[in-house]
Amino acid sequence: KTKVVVIGGGSSYTPELLEGIINNYKSLQITEVWLVDIPEGKEKLSIIEKLANRMIKKANCPIKIIATLDRRDAIKDATYIITQIRVGQLAMRRNDEYISIKHGVIGQETTGAGGFMKALRTIPVLLDICNDIDELAPSAWLLNFTNPAGIVTEAIIKHTNVKVVGLCNNPINFYKKFADTYNVDVRDVSINFVGINHLTWITDLYIKGRSRIDDILSGKSDSYEAKNIPSFGWDTKFLKSLGAIPCGYHKYYYQQNRILQDQVKEYENKETRADQVQKVEKELFELYRDQELKEKPKALEQRGGAYYSEAAINLIKSIHLDTKELHTLNVKNNGAISCLPDDACIEVNCVVEKHQITPLQIGEVKPEIRGLLQNVKAYEELTVKAAVTGSYGTAIQALTIHPLISSADVAMRIFEEMLLVNRPYLHKF
Ligand code: G6P
Ligand code: MN
Ligand code: MN
Repeated sequence: KTKVVVIGGGSSYTPELLEGIINNYKSLQITEVWLVDIPEGKEKLSIIEKLANRMIKKANCPIKIIATLDRRDAIKDATYIITQIRVGQLAMRRNDEYISIKHGVIGQETTGAGGFMKALRTIPVLLDICNDIDELAPSAWLLNFTNPAGIVTEAIIKHTNVKVVGLCNNPINFYKKFADTYNVDVRDVSINFVGINHLTWITDLYIKGRSRIDDILSGKSDSYEAKNIPSFGWDTKFLKSLGAIPCGYHKYYYQQNRILQDQVKEYENKETRADQVQKVEKELFELYRDQELKEKPKALEQRGGAYYSEAAINLIKSIHLDTKELHTLNVKNNGAISCLPDDACIEVNCVVEKHQITPLQIGEVKPEIRGLLQNVKAYEELTVKAAVTGSYGTAIQALTIHPLISSADVAMRIFEEMLLVNRPYLHKF
């Protein structure tokens, strides 16, 4: 009997996850799927619950769907717990973006000042959830999708005993993209990832064992681009000199000027990513209400998180069936990347076993990568510390050392403004 719990079950992303569960319930012996949400999400949860029941009925799948607002009841004796919450919902994401851009820095939900604000709201809630897990389901695996996933997972690693692994859909989408480009099975694609969540470099790419990274670096073939990131490309002179494939989020650093210019326009027109996603979400829930809808709709592909359920289900399969396969995951460093602290959370290839997930050894990292990597990781370390201690000083140090924030006075102004707006979520400060 396998009990899967989705915290943030009322999310518009949930049908994606349900599709994955339905396609794999047999091999995973999934009997129950619990969808948990908070009172503010009650209506959305009930729409998702009904859609879920139509989906399992159509697929002839005998699992039981239980929607609840009682988190502890859901967590009790769970086998796998997936967290996909957004503390403060899209309205707060919008604030994060607007406050950042107003102060002249990039506003993004995971990277820079926006990610910082989201982390401060989110970490206390995830640590609370982990308390419940520790008490009610100590042997459960926690799969954390909650952004900023790397920072949140690091907080859990440092401050709880829960068996946690952080997940992002980016790595799996790189595999899919390259399999598609070279017309091979994903199993024939090998990718060496180095870095942390939303800041990973691909240091080599193999197709059937042959290195093809130069095809990408020279611009002969494209890399993967998530839907939530501007689609302008890379200068090949720059890529070749870097000698590694950046992820989409690197644009916020390497093409800061251009992104900021675009964001200022979006801000003036009131159409930042949060504004766009609010619209998409409204449309999605209108579709979900339709009694005739019995599967995941195509419109969900407008969101950046496409295929996250594949990442989740593939991982659960590996754990459950003890396959000892490689997955690209957010885990405790433990020396894998030698220039980062042992207790830092990194996103690299890992061997997955039933009770343990171990990152592959990477060793030293070249300075082109190391400089930015250590800088952003130090910012993340301070962010986790600020969230758990409520220290004003630690918070402004975190923001100030972030490469997307120019100086201390900007950091302080942003922090003070965010404190006002986020008051209901920041009990520590
Ligand atoms: C990406 C990231 C996710 C993020 C999502 C945002 O795929 O990996 O971590 O949540 O995009 O997408 P959205 O549609 O909400 O802007
Ligand atoms: Mn992600
Ligand atoms: Mn700075």
